Amino acid sequence: MSTKSEFSKHAKDYDDNNIIQRIVSKALVRDIKNKPKNILELGCGSGQIFRHISWEIEHYKAIDFSASMCELHPRDKNIEVKCFDFDSEEFYTNIKDEKYDLVISASAMQWSKDLNLLIKRLLSVSKTINAVLFTSNTFKSIYDITKQAPAILSLEEIKEALTDTNSTFEVFNYKLEFQSKKELFKYIKNSGVKGEVQLSFKDAKNLYKKYDLNYLEFEVVFLEILVC
Ligand SMILES: C[S@@+](CC[C@H](N)C(=O)[O-])C[C@H]1O[C@@H](n2cnc3c(N)ncnc32)[C@H](O)[C@@H]1O
Repeated sequence: MSTKSEFSKHAKDYDDNNIIQRIVSKALVRDIKNKPKNILELGCGSGQIFRHISWEIEHYKAIDFSASMCELHPRDKNIEVKCFDFDSEEFYTNIKDEKYDLVISASAMQWSKDLNLLIKRLLSVSKTINAVLFTSNTFKSIYDITKQAPAILSLEEIKEALTDTNSTFEVFNYKLEFQSKKELFKYIKNSGVKGEVQLSFKDAKNLYKKYDLNYLEFEVVFLEILVC
């Protein structure tokens, strides 16, 4: 199943299964000091970022490629919610003549098919990008068992995409504990973080048997990218 279908299928459950996403989106907004008035958000989902913004906004453009997630985003006269894939030409054509004080994104850009190009494009419409991305070390012990390649970018790939940019980054690791294995695996299914990776029934059963931790691992990287 594609990342887009995963989010569309679990859109209704997303707000009950996004503890880490909520923590990191709050931290991302808390670190913004200059109260930008024109903001572009990538992978807006149900509006976690927008809900944390406490200052007045003139124009807020929130994009997401899942129509079901877009439907959950708050609406108002100065909010524009659009259904776009941030890697698409269609998206770039739509924004290229616009100017923003800030591009912001939480828990979404790790799926970019070409992060370096995406960053270049975003820096042509905004002098600042603040983003937090999951890295492929998220659910690491699970991938060690299944031997599958994670569907999201590694920290090295993210750093490589930042070459030639004026950027700083900070990496954080989280462990989320569960009372039971059943809850732990349900969380993975509904949180949407795993993306496109699918397991056969046999491999899923093997994973359930072999996974002996009572927690899930998450790794995120906070980025600040400024125009050179
Ligand atoms: C884990 S959710 C995060 C949502 C929200 N930013 C938050 O912090 O809760 C990731 C979101 O990114 C969206 N997304 C993933 N890849 C995308 C892409 N290529 N273009 C647009 N949206 C994308 C998904 O549909 C989903 O709503």
